[in-house]
Amino acid sequence: MRNLSEANITEAVIQTFEGTPDERLKEIMASLVKHLHAFVREVNLTEDEWLAGIQFLTATGQLCDDRRQEFILLSDTLGVTTLKDIINNRKPPGATEYTILGPFHRTNAPELPFNADLAEDMQGEPVFVKGRVLGPNGDPIAHATLDVWQSDAEGHYDLQMPDLQGTALRAVFRADTDGQFAFRTIKPSFYPIPYDGPVGQMLIATQRHPYRPAHIHFIVSADGYRSVTTELFAEGDPYLDSDAVFGVRGSLIVPFVRHESAREAAQFNLSTPFYTVDYNFVLEPT
Ligand code: BEZ
Ligand code: FE
Repeated sequence: MRNLSEANITEAVIQTFEGTPDERLKEIMASLVKHLHAFVREVNLTEDEWLAGIQFLTATGQLCDDRRQEFILLSDTLGVTTLKDIINNRKPPGATEYTILGPFHRTNAPELPFNADLAEDMQGEPVFVKGRVLGPNGDPIAHATLDVWQSDAEGHYDLQMPDLQGTALRAVFRADTDGQFAFRTIKPSFYPIPYDGPVGQMLIATQRHPYRPAHIHFIVSADGYRSVTTELFAEGDPYLDSDAVFGVRGSLIVPFVRHESAREAAQFNLSTPFYTVDYNFVLEPT
């Protein structure tokens, strides 16, 4: 292993992992080295570029703490998260598709009853969301759990509201015996992913925007079924075809149907104009 050349260094490094007892780790290290070396060769990486890359990764790590995960954001904006999600969440036709979890899920959401208002006194255009949780044959899944979270009308999650005590715009709902769920909320907005760090610098340098189209997040689960982490995207949103984190799937785009009738609004206990969203989640059995 002396006088290594461009031609044989990759194989020499891979050889050093030969004795790795964990076969999977051995496979991953060999593949990582193979692809990293191929990247360096392909772009003819210069000294300055190598250092800029090291500094970028260092800054990315330095921004990470228990509230901010800049490395996951980097993975998200490079499409790695969504590629990993697609590979790990292959679904039979008809089952609700998985999409990106994101950094704003919390486990302390309050459990709210059928028809409750997720938005309470928050400003925004009212929305009535309803649907059913079904098995693959269309059979209702009684008492399925729906963990729901979303941004406000300005695109902020509760975690981004410094003056807020407790939680907002997040809740856990339970479907009824017929698999039905319903809640009231406000229309979410498109919003930028956090772009005040190295990932934001990368987006700026490459003239990419940081926006995600408006969406509501769900984790739908039930005993005997594989739970699905997903989002419902607002039809017509300007960012559906350029999501900064590559999470949009056609099957998850839903109309937010606008209603003007005061009589209908009273029926839903909402003001006008209001929107309705109707979506059935389909889970696959475990
Ligand atoms: C989100 O949808 O909440 C999200 C996903 C990935 C990165 C940032 C935000
Ligand atoms: Fe989100």
